[in-house]
Amino acid sequence: MLVAGNWKMNLGHADAVGLAAEIVRATADLSDEVGVAICPPAVWLDAVAERVRGSEVRLGAQNLHPADGGAFTGEVSAGMLTDLDVEYVIVGHSERRQMGETSAFVAEKVRAAQAAGLAPILCVGETLDERESGDAEAIVLAQLAASLDGVDSADLVVAYEPVWAIGTGRTATPEQAQAMHAAIRRALGERFEDGEDVEILYGGSVKPDNAAELFDQDDLDGALVGGASLDAESFAAIVAAAEASMC
Ligand code: 13P
Repeated sequence: MLVAGNWKMNLGHADAVGLAAEIVRATADLSDEVGVAICPPAVWLDAVAERVRGSEVRLGAQNLHPADGGAFTGEVSAGMLTDLDVEYVIVGHSERRQMGETSAFVAEKVRAAQAAGLAPILCVGETLDERESGDAEAIVLAQLAASLDGVDSADLVVAYEPVWAIGTGRTATPEQAQAMHAAIRRALGERFEDGEDVEILYGGSVKPDNAAELFDQDDLDGALVGGASLDAESFAAIVAAAEASMC
């Protein structure tokens, strides 16, 4: 299982380093069965890397550019991330897709991440209109297929994040999440020889009080947590729920 915190564009330098230190303390007695990762804003990766070094907490980035380097103002390459001991990178988050990022470009990013030895956390999810149209599963599976163009399964992690559940306090029910996760797992199994083993995280208003029932579902392998990952106690409680679900 994996619980990853996506800090998004939050926290100044001191608060980011402080939160990383608190999370290291709060997850010190973790079993091997649950991985923990935090994904701070890119400018704080170096400072946070320093703070988590030697602990169980892994470092993730929120984005990367697929090129190795060159004239791409404001962008960060996979090689720059691995230089900082980053292990995960979120790719294709809906907040970036809404700014115009296409699935073809997302697939390029996944390939670049894998080529550098980073584990991409590939996000997919439907909007509220798409859910209400009854086509959510077909839409998510099409987005998944397009975002996996030319990709292999190396270190791949998928996050199902229904757009209508992100930052809204409105979580998918455990049954809705399970149904989509099972469909994603089937699709991954058809695509890759070891596709059924790919970890599938759920994201969208995961909180300490709903984490346990989500983690009880067969096809939920962890969570990608936004708001609740900005508070060490809440994040640690979600990690503890993941751990309890393994028993
Ligand atoms: P919230 O947990 O704040 O809904 O955010 C989810 C998310 O977008 C994680 O990537």
